[in-house]
Amino acid sequence: MEPIRWQVQEFESLDSTNTWLVDQARAGAAEGLVARADFQTSGRGRLDRRWEAPARSALLTSILLRPTLDESDRFLVTAIVALSARAALVRLCGVRPDVKWPNDLIVREQKLGGILAEFVPATSGPPAVVVGIGLNLSSHPAQVASTDIVEISGLRLDPVTVLDILLEELEIRRALLDSSEGRSEIRRELRRSLVTLGRAVRVERVTDVVEGVAVDVDDAGRILLENDDGVVAIPVGDVVHLRTLALHAVEDAS
Ligand code: ATP
Ligand code: BTN
Repeated sequence: MEPIRWQVQEFESLDSTNTWLVDQARAGAAEGLVARADFQTSGRGRLDRRWEAPARSALLTSILLRPTLDESDRFLVTAIVALSARAALVRLCGVRPDVKWPNDLIVREQKLGGILAEFVPATSGPPAVVVGIGLNLSSHPAQVASTDIVEISGLRLDPVTVLDILLEELEIRRALLDSSEGRSEIRRELRRSLVTLGRAVRVERVTDVVEGVAVDVDDAGRILLENDDGVVAIPVGDVVHLRTLALHAVEDAS
């Protein structure tokens, strides 16, 4: 496959880079189109939650990809963006965030970034994927357990530079999506980066709550929780909230 040609469109302000790029994807835009905004008036998180960031305090970007993937491999698209953002931050400032399944980047339990992947049906062939990422660089919301790069490292990163390096890293991982060995390599990198594994967690689903120790992520990206009932596999789409439980909570339960 030819290397991807990223085409970055810059905006001072947008409602949401994801919303803009979903519209472009519907209109047939090519893989590699990227939107970056200094500010979003209606930044979105999963399940229509809001993503808040003051102007120029964060990397706010969305990337259009058109990989050919089975439905069970689609979670890998969120994974490659999370892993590329992580690698970019290591290169730029030595900060190595953990990946909190399913879609957060965290440092010491505090949210540094979040990813929102949206699938857009195509007239023929596989759906397009718009992957949005928000990374807090110099500010974070006071009312949420969150952090930013200045707070962690004292370094002030420019969103444009972070995006450049993120896209360099993403080019490598995007190529891996096209082969089964490549996809296995992404799965391995994801497992190594997931802070959730080995932790006792509580997963709120729409209808109930499941607790257990997160023992693995299966090949379809579902988290496997082990508890007294055995092993429960939870797909990303079922999760309203995932919280890590304090270690003594596991001991209390045993
Ligand atoms: P979970 O409960 O599984 O951890 P979550 O609370 O992280 O999920 P998401 O849907 O993944 O929820 O992310 C959206 C949430 O991120 C919002 O509910 C909001 O609390 C929080 N949030 C909004 N803006 C920011 C920001 N700039 N930095 C960190 N967190 C933010
Ligand atoms: C989450 O944690 O739920 C995901 C947050 C994703 C936020 C980013 S910011 C850039 C892009 N545009 C949006 O409206 N959302 C994503």
